[in-house]
Amino acid sequence: MLSIAEKDFGTPAAGSEKLVTVTIDGFEVAVPAGTSVMRAAALAGISVPKLCATEQLDAFGSCRLCLVQIEGMKGYPASCTALVAEGMKVTTQNQKIGELRRGVMELYISDHPLDCLTCPANGHCELQDMAGAVGLREVRYGYEGENHLSLQKDESNPYFTFDPSKCIVCSRCVRACDEVQGTLALTVQGRGFNSKIAASQDDSFLDSECVSCGACVQACPTATLSEKSLIQKGQAEHSVITACAYCGVGCSFRAEMRGAEVVRMVPNLNGHANHGHSCVKGRFAIGYTTHPDRITKPMIRAKISEPWREVSWEEAINYAASEFRRLQGKYGRDSVGGITSSRCTNEETYLVQKLVRAAFGNNNVDTCARVCHSPTGYGLKQTLGESAGTQTFDSVMRSDVVFIIGANPTDAHPVFASQMKRRLRQGAKLIIVDPRRIDLVRTPHIEAQHHLQLRPGTNVALLNSLAHVIVTEGLVNNAFVAARCEHEAFAKWKSFASQSRNSPEALQADTGVPADEVRAAARLYATGGNAAIYYGLGVTEHSQGSTTVMAIANLAMATGNIGREGVGVNPLRGQNNVQGACDMGSFPHELPGYRHVSDPISRQLFEQEWGVGLLAEPGLRIPNMFEAALDGEFKGLYIEGEDIAQSDPNTQHVTAALTAMECIVVQDLFLNETAKFAHVFLPGSSFLEKDGTFTNAERRISPVRKVMSAPGGYADWEITQLLSNALGYPMNYAHPSDIMEEIARLTPTFTGVSFDKISRLGSIQWPCNDRAPQGTPIMHVEEFVRGKGRFLVTEYVPTREKVNAKYPLILTTGRILSQYNVGAQTRRTANNTWHEEDRVELHPHDAEERGVKDGDWVGVQSRAGETVMRAVITPRVQPGLVYTTFHFPDSGANVITTDNSDWATNCPEYKVTAVQVTRVTRPSEWQMRYRSFSQRQEALLRQGSDVADVK
Ligand code: SF4
Ligand code: SF4
Ligand code: SF4
Ligand code: FES
Repeated sequence: MLSIAEKDFGTPAAGSEKLVTVTIDGFEVAVPAGTSVMRAAALAGISVPKLCATEQLDAFGSCRLCLVQIEGMKGYPASCTALVAEGMKVTTQNQKIGELRRGVMELYISDHPLDCLTCPANGHCELQDMAGAVGLREVRYGYEGENHLSLQKDESNPYFTFDPSKCIVCSRCVRACDEVQGTLALTVQGRGFNSKIAASQDDSFLDSECVSCGACVQACPTATLSEKSLIQKGQAEHSVITACAYCGVGCSFRAEMRGAEVVRMVPNLNGHANHGHSCVKGRFAIGYTTHPDRITKPMIRAKISEPWREVSWEEAINYAASEFRRLQGKYGRDSVGGITSSRCTNEETYLVQKLVRAAFGNNNVDTCARVCHSPTGYGLKQTLGESAGTQTFDSVMRSDVVFIIGANPTDAHPVFASQMKRRLRQGAKLIIVDPRRIDLVRTPHIEAQHHLQLRPGTNVALLNSLAHVIVTEGLVNNAFVAARCEHEAFAKWKSFASQSRNSPEALQADTGVPADEVRAAARLYATGGNAAIYYGLGVTEHSQGSTTVMAIANLAMATGNIGREGVGVNPLRGQNNVQGACDMGSFPHELPGYRHVSDPISRQLFEQEWGVGLLAEPGLRIPNMFEAALDGEFKGLYIEGEDIAQSDPNTQHVTAALTAMECIVVQDLFLNETAKFAHVFLPGSSFLEKDGTFTNAERRISPVRKVMSAPGGYADWEITQLLSNALGYPMNYAHPSDIMEEIARLTPTFTGVSFDKISRLGSIQWPCNDRAPQGTPIMHVEEFVRGKGRFLVTEYVPTREKVNAKYPLILTTGRILSQYNVGAQTRRTANNTWHEEDRVELHPHDAEERGVKDGDWVGVQSRAGETVMRAVITPRVQPGLVYTTFHFPDSGANVITTDNSDWATNCPEYKVTAVQVTRVTRPSEWQMRYRSFSQRQEALLRQGSDVADVK
């Protein structure tokens, strides 16, 4: 159904730079060669009626409504499939054309319910519009003949309905599923009058392969496929462009509104990261923003054993500030700190780190990027000179070889995965390095050339063996290395990589990957044309996460695969604003723009602007905060938008540290796991309730716009400002755009960024400054940010986490499409339909040895703890490997993960935990303790609000 604000030009834009001039209804128009006649007419301001054509899909030419006359051509060609030619003369409207179109429309309408007034698409239905556009006045065939009007609706999908009685079999949905989403879940079954749309093998949408991305709903010109929210709420009357609050793809959306209510989220056709596509989370899973679990009143309590007390904002803020000051007075300046989140906007994270540095007077600030992509920041800075990915997402359309390591894009970065799949269907080759058989290994029309199914924890060994092949088989791009990289460092690396101990044959015993497979993959990466590396948390969340990032950068430099379209090193960031949180100075050792706190020039700049002295020593990282809390030295924590009790490893260690603190202030939407240990709760705002910006995995800064008021009354940046003022450090921003102005003043890579420019351009990829006023799509083009690229020796050091007789299996963790991170948002939506609990995947061989059947409860024990989940028996995991997600607090995946972490950044080693799996019949001790603690905390929350109600 039509978006309320976007014009559809009928067919995709042609890429050619050559212009062709045509005359349409007497008007001359110059358009790129390869443009359809329909699009050329639309560009000239002339609308040709259409039904099966839409700008997002290749022309199909089935409905015959768009026919036109072209001088010198016989008959009436379809304007969506006819391409322009120099000097072409087109007539889009005359009596004969009108008659033909009316004839087509009569056939459609004679088999279509005439319930326009009560139809959810009324006023936005293309069939209705076209009936008007062709001047249909009568239907000569009547409505009594054979028809499809009594076909039953499919309501199985929680977010959209399929009403086949309204279907005109234009196949836009089928093509959207094929071309845009790449799932190929839909087909046209039957022929002629009997043709109909079917999901998978004529299953319900829910039981089919459909992943509920909504592309078919968006493509449907009628109300056949309609959002349930739109059916319930009615058509929107205005829309606001904003950005998705979920993953690091950073899709742009049009929030379609009625008053202050969101009717539906429509992916923005002009969104530079998503080009009008989305996944089930961004498009549909926004119900959490209005969920009754939202806490909307500030609350305080002296001890976590006491009920919460609802108080005024003034009391809550003053209490928090006085507690922080009391703790600093009693235990010292460094006894308090703050944690920002990748779920907050850039402006919000900037303010939290400013509050810690300027108002607390220390550098004890950290962010959840600590536990995901901190090794990316470190590894890329060391080698390339900038802590960020090098490309645009669109760059993948120029790749000949796609190399994915430790990432599962179809689940974690679905919209980019769809784009990547498009390129792979066009013929690009695929190498996957992953211990688990992710979907992309084999999916419709795509099969990886190489799936290097390595043992968890051996990434560095595998990358070293790839480097060995490249170096010893003469596959290095010597010209690139000579011109662009440090010679001495390269020579050292080359000598290291060529040692026989780094050969695929020597490392095969460690990695478990056959040497000839490694050799073939290395040759393909080095010689297959433009090769791009995409990686995720399967690279970073290891004891050698930073080393792995450096090894990836080494490979890209050695083969010259950096600095142009189609190549590069691309970290796929987990959460929407991981890149931004890091950029904004959320790490304890870095000021905004990745400037070390020990650098006197940078410090001075901030000292002058902020009017305070800053410490030259880095503050505490999150794990150090926990250690210091257990040592009795760290007593107070301000946490904005982060749930460390669920997301950080070794839960029992984390909760012991939280219990040891005297004042925990949580600013969030819900009473999350961390808030159950808190003393002050400040109700935060969702992405729909504030202005600001998010920065995605491509360094793209996109606008986040307020469409409704925060139920608590304040946006998060305002709350931080109130707290800072109460602490005695004044902040007086009137709007987040003022905060961005300050960021731009202080950060060389942001000097050209402003809210006005972001609105004008739609989004901006940093660096954006005098040298690149429109932003920087591809980095390191002429030279690396650090000047010369630096190769680093990447010695393989096996993890300390070893399997033994007691813990013979390796557990690794990851995400699933329908849920997001700790699940606080998605668990409060109908996305639970697809994934209502975390389960543990087990290979059939390991299951049989243990007498475990699919669906059995199993205990998963590690050196850190034990939890119980349901088992899924699947060959997706190799023997010896088990896998789970971590979206539900009760499953306690992080009760099992350990304190091991990356040597450089302390990023936890989530991906490697030695475990045993056994059949059990009851929850683990931890789960029973957790459930009773949680129930008690829920009761304390209710007691607090009951008291407030009585008052
Ligand atoms: S469901 Fe919609 S898009 Fe699909 S064939 Fe029917 S009318 Fe066309
Ligand atoms: S929702 Fe997406 S995956 Fe499902 S049928 Fe439609 S296009 Fe295909
Ligand atoms: S791909 Fe990521 S950013 Fe895009 S809609 Fe899905 S969750 Fe949101
Ligand atoms: S719009 Fe051209 S044939 Fe349907």
